[in-house]
Amino acid sequence: MKDTLILAIESSCDETAASVVKNGRTILSNVISSQIALHTLYGGVVPEIASRKHIEKINQVIEQALADADVTLDDLDAIGVTYGPGLVGALLVGVAEAKAIAYAKKLPLVGVHHIEGHVSANYIEHPDLEPPFLCLIVSGGHTHLVIVKDYGEFEILGRTRDDAAGEAFDKVARAIGLGYPGGPKVDKLSKEGNPNAIEFPKAKIGDCPYDFSFSGVKSAVLNYINHAQMTGEEINRADLAASFQKAVVDVLVEHTMLAAKDYGMTKIAIAGGVASNGTLRAAMEEACKKNNYSFYRPSPIFCTDNAAMIGVAAYYEYIKGTRHGWDLNAVPNLKLGER
Ligand code: KG4
Ligand code: ZN
Repeated sequence: MKDTLILAIESSCDETAASVVKNGRTILSNVISSQIALHTLYGGVVPEIASRKHIEKINQVIEQALADADVTLDDLDAIGVTYGPGLVGALLVGVAEAKAIAYAKKLPLVGVHHIEGHVSANYIEHPDLEPPFLCLIVSGGHTHLVIVKDYGEFEILGRTRDDAAGEAFDKVARAIGLGYPGGPKVDKLSKEGNPNAIEFPKAKIGDCPYDFSFSGVKSAVLNYINHAQMTGEEINRADLAASFQKAVVDVLVEHTMLAAKDYGMTKIAIAGGVASNGTLRAAMEEACKKNNYSFYRPSPIFCTDNAAMIGVAAYYEYIKGTRHGWDLNAVPNLKLGER
C-alpha cells in the first residue's frame, strides 16, 4: 500500500514547528523553532511578538522539515495544521500557511485540535497503544482527565476549575524568581530540594472527584513567600519548589488513579508540556506499576509543543475523512471534541 505523507504545522503559542509524518506514526522530521529567548525578556509570551516571529520563521521551518524528511511538496498527501485553541494571531499564521500550500498543491486540508495533538504524541513511540485509554492532559492552558474512546474521540471526566497545571508552575516560578518558562525551572530546582519540607494544601473538589484546582496551592505559595518576607526569614527556594511540585503531582496522580479504578481503565497515558516533568513521570509510573496498569508517555520533546504530534492527529482525522474547507479559520477557544 502507498505510504501516506502529511506535512503538519503548529504555531499556536511560542514555537513555530513543522513535521513530516508517514502513515500516522513514523516521524520523518520534527523541526521546532522556539521563541523562548525572545519572550524571556518579558517574563511570559507576548502574543504580538509571537505572531510576528511565526510569520518570519514559518517558511524556513517548513523547508527544513521537508529537507530533513527528504521529500518535496509533490510527495505529500495532506496538510495538517493546528487551528485552535491558542493565541489567535499565532494560530492565524499556521492556518494561512497551511491553506496556501494546500490550495497551491491541491491537497486536502485537515485542521487539528491542539490538545488532540498532545494526546496523539503518545502514539509516536508506543506502536502498541490504541484507544481506549485514560489520558491526563497537562499543558500551559489545559488540565483535563479524559477517556480516549477512539482516535480523536474523548469523554472528559475532569478538568481544572481555575488555573491549568502548567500555569500554576509558571506563576509559582515567577513568584520565587525563577522567571519564564517556569515549569522546567521548577522541575530542575526541585531536584535539590526536600519535597516534604513544606506542606501545601491539596484541593479537594466536592462534587467531581476528577476535577482539579490549583489556585489554592498557588496562593499558599505566595502567602508563604509574603510571610517570610515580612518576618525576614530566609526562603529555601529549592525546598519551596519541591514542596509545591509534590502537592501538584500528588493530586494529578491521585485523580488519575481514581478515574482508572472507577472506569476500569488499565492503560494510562500523560500528555502536554507538564508531562515532561520528571517527578510527575516517575510518580505516575510507580502508581501504574503498583496497580498493574500499562503506562505510556511521550519523550519530553514530544510533550511540549511540536508539529509531529499534530501530524499524527491529522493522519487519524484524515483516514476518518475529516477535511476542512478554504474557509478554515483560527478558533482560539476551540473545545476538545469540536471539529
Ligand atoms: O503543552 P505546552 O508546551 O504548551 C501548551 O499547549 O500550553 O505546555 C507548556 C507548559 C508551560 O506552562 C510550562 O511551564 C510547562 O508546560 N512545562 C513544565 C515542564 N516543561 C514544560 N511544567 C513542569 N515541568 C516541566 N519539566
Ligand atoms: Zn501545547
